[in-house]
Amino acid sequence: MKAILPVAGYGTRLHPHTHHIQKSLLPIAGKPTLDFIVEPLLAHGIKDITFIVGHLGDQIRDYMKSFSGAFHFVEQKERLGLGHAVLQGLTDSDEPVLIQLGDTIFHADFMSFCSSDVNRIAVMEVDDPTRFGIVETEGNRVIALHEKPKYPPSNLAISGLYSFISERKLKEAIEYLIEQNIRTGGEYQLTDAMAFMLKNGNPFEVRKLDYYDTGVPATFLDTNRALLKSSHKEFSNCTIVDPVHIGIGCRIENSTIGPNVTIMSKCTIMNCTIENSVVLQGSALINQSFASRIVGGDGSEYC
Ligand code: G1P
Repeated sequence: MKAILPVAGYGTRLHPHTHHIQKSLLPIAGKPTLDFIVEPLLAHGIKDITFIVGHLGDQIRDYMKSFSGAFHFVEQKERLGLGHAVLQGLTDSDEPVLIQLGDTIFHADFMSFCSSDVNRIAVMEVDDPTRFGIVETEGNRVIALHEKPKYPPSNLAISGLYSFISERKLKEAIEYLIEQNIRTGGEYQLTDAMAFMLKNGNPFEVRKLDYYDTGVPATFLDTNRALLKSSHKEFSNCTIVDPVHIGIGCRIENSTIGPNVTIMSKCTIMNCTIENSVVLQGSALINQSFASRIVGGDGSEYC
């Protein structure tokens, strides 16, 4: 089974950090997000993974050297949308392909999700459907798809895991969008390619799967909280309220840390109170008090 992971985007919703860290490498619960995506795939025997890289793509290439598998890296030279990104990794093979977005984490049985006879989309009911691709269904069968509709006809959102029974059919659908210049929000959308496939007699089913989203600061911090396991040594004159992860080489004095805090390695933290936050590697924070932030540098870089 081949998988495609699109990790080319600018991650604008996580600025300023994504100016210099690829979005999928921002740490959650002590590890880069990508760990939480790649490890389950490898554990399910999905070792043939094509990464669609672009913005800060070398960081992905370097990072994946710590894993073993058949990894391929294809560059998306222009940011023309998710459909265009995925196309870079597709071939004319009639073999199945699994696609997982770089800002979604699933704890799922991937093999059961990828059945051989029907295309499948992971979905979840959401409160803010205008931020997602939306499906309309009859039972499990998809009857219509819309990318970020202004007036969503349902709250069943495409969450970021897709199984296609034929790479070629998806490739042809995206190529059609490009030939006809069919864009939504100015971009070639994967959702629009699926809508075209559906119209041409390729059925899709939905499966509701629990997932964790890391796409915007609020959901990123929710995911950090959900996945966090305590791991830290004790620091004198500090109160640590678990769960808290503190990486190696940190100096922490006169501070209250937690709950729900990840502090990556080599940070200096003095006279601070930090709650429900992620502090990036090498940060130096002095006399600060904050909650629900992703923080880097001297604390002035945050979202
Ligand atoms: C993309 C897809 C959208 C999907 C979403 C899930 O949008 O285009 O259909 O619902 O991912 O996160 P993006 O978040 O890249 O704007």
